[in-house]
Amino acid sequence: MARPIPYQPSLLRLLHGITAILVPLAWLSGLVVLANHDGRWLRLPLTVPGEWIDIHGTVGALLWPVALLFVVYAIRVGRVRLRQAANAAALLGLVLAVGSGKLMQEDWLRTGQLDHLPYHLHLVAWMLITGAVIWHVCSVLRRGGVRFAASMGQLHVRDNDGPRHWATQLLQRR
Ligand code: HEM
Ligand code: HEM
Repeated sequence: MARPIPYQPSLLRLLHGITAILVPLAWLSGLVVLANHDGRWLRLPLTVPGEWIDIHGTVGALLWPVALLFVVYAIRVGRVRLRQAANAAALLGLVLAVGSGKLMQEDWLRTGQLDHLPYHLHLVAWMLITGAVIWHVCSVLRRGGVRFAASMGQLHVRDNDGPRHWATQLLQRR
């Protein structure tokens, strides 16, 4: 008989899902910002037209509140999962990327100010989150295969795990 797909709490799936969509968008839009504004690191053969700093800033502005809730959830409710080093690394990468992003000022790159400390931190965090998420996804696949990975994307919600229960879950320490 096939093993059932593990049930993941709906609040975790929601926060994790939005994070897992927005982080790649931030990653890609950040790459374009880097290519357009900072030729020291990366020279693409073309510059991509568009207000990419604004686009990236918008993705970041959507990401940070969700990331904040996700971090609170992961530390309070999902602490047991953080014993998996790859999960903890993904969380740390997220905190560093979002934290350093909040220290960025949108005019720095437009005006060629490429030597601010938060900018260097943001670039280091960008590389760290890349490695951490690759490690995290490999670890998930190694431990439970595609079925385990897909458990984060399933839509079924149990009766006792609906939005009405989210506030209590967040406030409960495990
Ligand atoms: C996964 C990678 C990345 C994440 C998660 C991320 C996240 C963020 C966040 C949360 C903000 C703050 C937005 C706000 O003010 O609310 C931000 C700002 C910013 N980031 Fe990133 N970032 C990433 C990669 C990059 C890269 C590679 C660059 C390239 C240079 C970059 C350049 C910037 C700039 C210029 C800002 C200021 C934009 C603004 O305030 O409008 N980011 N980022
Ligand atoms: C930006 C990308 C991602 C970040 C920042 C991230 C972060 C995390 C974190 C911090 C946890 C632990 C949650 C807790 O302690 O409650 C977790 C769990 C998990 N993530 Fe991700 N994740 C990302 C992408 C993905 C992707 C793409 C998949 C699917 C392939 C995935 C599948 C899972 C699974 C199955 C778990 C449960 C692991 C366990 O029980 O040990 N994640 N993720």
